[in-house]
Amino acid sequence: MNMRFEPARGLTGQLTAPPDKSISHRAALLGAMSSEPVRIENYLHAADTTSTLNAVRALGALVEVRGGAGGGGAGGGGRGGGELVIRGTGLREAHEPDGPIDVGNAGTLLRLLPGWLAAQDGRSFTLDGDDSIRGRPVDRIAEPLRQMGAELDAREDRYPPLTVHGARLHSISYELPVASAQVKSCVLLAALAADGATTVGEPERSRDHTERMLLSAGVNIHRNGRHVTVVNADELILERVRVPGDPSSAAFMIAAGVLVYGSRLLIGDVGVNWTRTGFVRIVQRMRGIVLGELEPESGELSALEPVSDLDVAHGALEGVTVGPEEVPLAIDELPLLALLGCYAEGETVVHGAGELRVKESDRIAGVVEGLRGLGADIEATEDGFAVRGAGGLRGGVLHARGDHRMAMMGAVAGLASREGVEVVGMEAASVSYPGFVEDLAGLRSS
Ligand code: S3P
Repeated sequence: MNMRFEPARGLTGQLTAPPDKSISHRAALLGAMSSEPVRIENYLHAADTTSTLNAVRALGALVEVRGGAGGGGAGGGGRGGGELVIRGTGLREAHEPDGPIDVGNAGTLLRLLPGWLAAQDGRSFTLDGDDSIRGRPVDRIAEPLRQMGAELDAREDRYPPLTVHGARLHSISYELPVASAQVKSCVLLAALAADGATTVGEPERSRDHTERMLLSAGVNIHRNGRHVTVVNADELILERVRVPGDPSSAAFMIAAGVLVYGSRLLIGDVGVNWTRTGFVRIVQRMRGIVLGELEPESGELSALEPVSDLDVAHGALEGVTVGPEEVPLAIDELPLLALLGCYAEGETVVHGAGELRVKESDRIAGVVEGLRGLGADIEATEDGFAVRGAGGLRGGVLHARGDHRMAMMGAVAGLASREGVEVVGMEAASVSYPGFVEDLAGLRSS
C-alpha cells in the first residue's frame, strides 16, 4: 500500500503511546510458562504480538481476550488496551504442536521462544515465518542452547526454519558475542528449567524487560555489572502484568514533534525504563526539546517498568555522535536518528551498529538509500552511517522494504519535508503500531 505524507506545520495534541511490543511478547510467553492464570493489561494487538498469542496457543496455553483491542491514541487507532488472561502449561509442560509454529515477522518471538522450548525434554518444535524471518540469524541462540544440552537444526545452520529438540538442560556461563536482548532473554528463559544457576554476560547493556519480569515472577535473578545470573525455578508466580506504552513507537511521534516547525505534543504513558530511553537522551543531547521523568541509569535490577508523559516541542538540533555502548539502548530508533541528522546543524555519526544489518531489513542500506532519495547527504559505513545536516529534506518516494520502522520513518520524513513523501509499503507499520497513520492524522496541524 502506497501512502503520501504531505508537509505539515504546527502539529499539536495529546496521544497515548501504544502498548510496548517487547514487553507484550514477554508477558505472553511468561504467561504460557506459568502454571497459574496471568492477567495482562494493555497487551499490544499488532501483527507481531498476535503471532506470539497464536504460538502459545499452539503449545497448549489458553488465551482469553477480555478487553477490546481498541482505544489509545489521538486517532483511537485500535492497537492495544486489551486485557488478556493466559492459562499456561507450566515451565516444563509445553505441548508438542501438530505442525510448525508460525512466528510471522516477529524476530523477538523467533529468538525468545526457543529458550523455553529447549527445556521440553523429549519434544520437538519447528519455528518458521515470513520471507524476512527466513533471513534472520538463529545461530546466535542455537550456540548457547546447544551448550545447555538441547539439539537444534536450522537451514544452513543459521536461518529458519529452526527445529528445537528439547532436553534436560544444564546451567552454563555464557558471554554474548553481540549485545542482544533477544539472545540474552533466550538463555535466561532456558535457564529457568536448567539444573542450577546460569550467568549471561553482555558486551554492552541491552533492554532488561525479561530480567524485570522474571524478578516480579519470584525468580531468583540478580545483576552484577554486565552479568545477569538466574537460578532455576519450579514455577513462575506472575499474577498480573501491566504493559506500559512503547518508547520505540513513541519515538516516531517524538521525531515528528521535534522536526515539524511549530509543533508541541504531549505523549502519555511512555515506558521510561532506562535501557529503552537511549533515543530520548540522544535527542536531548542534540538540544531537541523532550521533557519527561526518565528512569536514571542503574546497576540494580528492579521489577518496575516506570512510565512518564513526554512533552515534545519543535526546535533546532545539533549533530551528535553515537557509539557502541549507546547503540543497544536506541537500536530500533537509529533510523529516526538518521532522519533527525538531516535537520541538524553539523554531522550526525552512528558507529558500532552493525546489528542494524540483520533487523527486519538491512536498516543501514535502507535508511541510507531511502533518505538519500529524499535529498539527504548521508553515507553508509560498515557498522553505521554519517549524515550531514543540509537544511532538511526535499521529499520524494521511500520504499519501506517490508520493514515497519522504515515505513513509519518515511511518514515522519514526509511531514517534515518540503514537498512530501510517498511511502511504498505503508502496511508494514501494523507489525508494531497498527493505529500509527490515524494517530498522526489525529494531531492538529496549523
Ligand atoms: C528486542 C530486542 C532488539 C530489538 C528488537 C526487540 C527485544 O533486538 O531490535 O526490536 O524485544 O528483545 P536484539 O536484541 O536482537 O538487538
